[in-house]
Amino acid sequence: MSKCSAPGKFILFGEHAVVFGKPAIAIAIDRRITTSVRRADEFMVNGYMMTRRHHAYISAALDQAWNGPPVAIDTVSEIPPGSGLGSSAAVSVSCVGALLSEKNGLDAERIARKAFEVECVVQGRASPTDTSTSAHGHGVLVSPERLDGFLWKVEKGERVWNIHHCDIPELTFVVGHTGIHAGTGPLVAKVNELVDGSGDARRAIDRIGELVLEGVESLRARDKAALGRLMTENHDLLNGLGVGHPALESLVEACTGRCYGAKMTGAGGGGSMIALTDDPVPVSDAITSAGGHAIIVKVGAEGVRAENA
Ligand code: MEV
Repeated sequence: MSKCSAPGKFILFGEHAVVFGKPAIAIAIDRRITTSVRRADEFMVNGYMMTRRHHAYISAALDQAWNGPPVAIDTVSEIPPGSGLGSSAAVSVSCVGALLSEKNGLDAERIARKAFEVECVVQGRASPTDTSTSAHGHGVLVSPERLDGFLWKVEKGERVWNIHHCDIPELTFVVGHTGIHAGTGPLVAKVNELVDGSGDARRAIDRIGELVLEGVESLRARDKAALGRLMTENHDLLNGLGVGHPALESLVEACTGRCYGAKMTGAGGGGSMIALTDDPVPVSDAITSAGGHAIIVKVGAEGVRAENA
């Protein structure tokens, strides 16, 4: 029997553009998925026979990290599925971690690589942002160039992503979940189509890439006003890429004037938004009044770790 947990995350800047090789910053949060693995007579997930259709991430994780006898896999999640908070990355990372730790200790880089392959198989096109953040924890800067704090490099086709540790100062974020489940794969495909056919969309991707690097400087300077302005700009650019949703817009609007800045986070199309604030309770109340589910999160959580089985 082995047991591992891995954190969810939110993307502070750069979602979607990162799939095209631009930089992004993601932050691990204090909401985790725990996966346990034990020998069994048949492959089971949470008490049910495993099927590829119903357990896409776990089946793909077994393909990547297991060629042994049948196992029963159980997951316990603190992360709403489809919320943009990295539940699929956390399930992939914790499952690969639990499967590999039957044989070896925990190696965050190896786990991150295999979990990225899991997301690619299930979602089609993906970047290693979510899986590397869940494996490493803390904050992660993904960039086409190798910079200070380098952890590992991930390559797929012509794309190269360098994964770096990113120090995250003490900041307070409120997550507002719309309750609308949006699949990442179709949204990534939609942006891909737009970028192929439109110069404006390509320019939006380029500008997102630039603002991520401005975000790195603002994080270093702990300049919350600048971070808030960049969040708002990133949100508007994502809306221009067609991944917004009216429910996200009403949560962002409800926070406006109560926080430094707010933006959708993750794939969009529903899912969640984040707001940066010093005063989380009124922001959380505003999100709830606008029909969202508010979570005040602690940032910079530990990455994949073994749990007592
Ligand atoms: C999803 O959390 C982030 C996206 O950029 C997709 C990815 O990076 O794989 C939309």
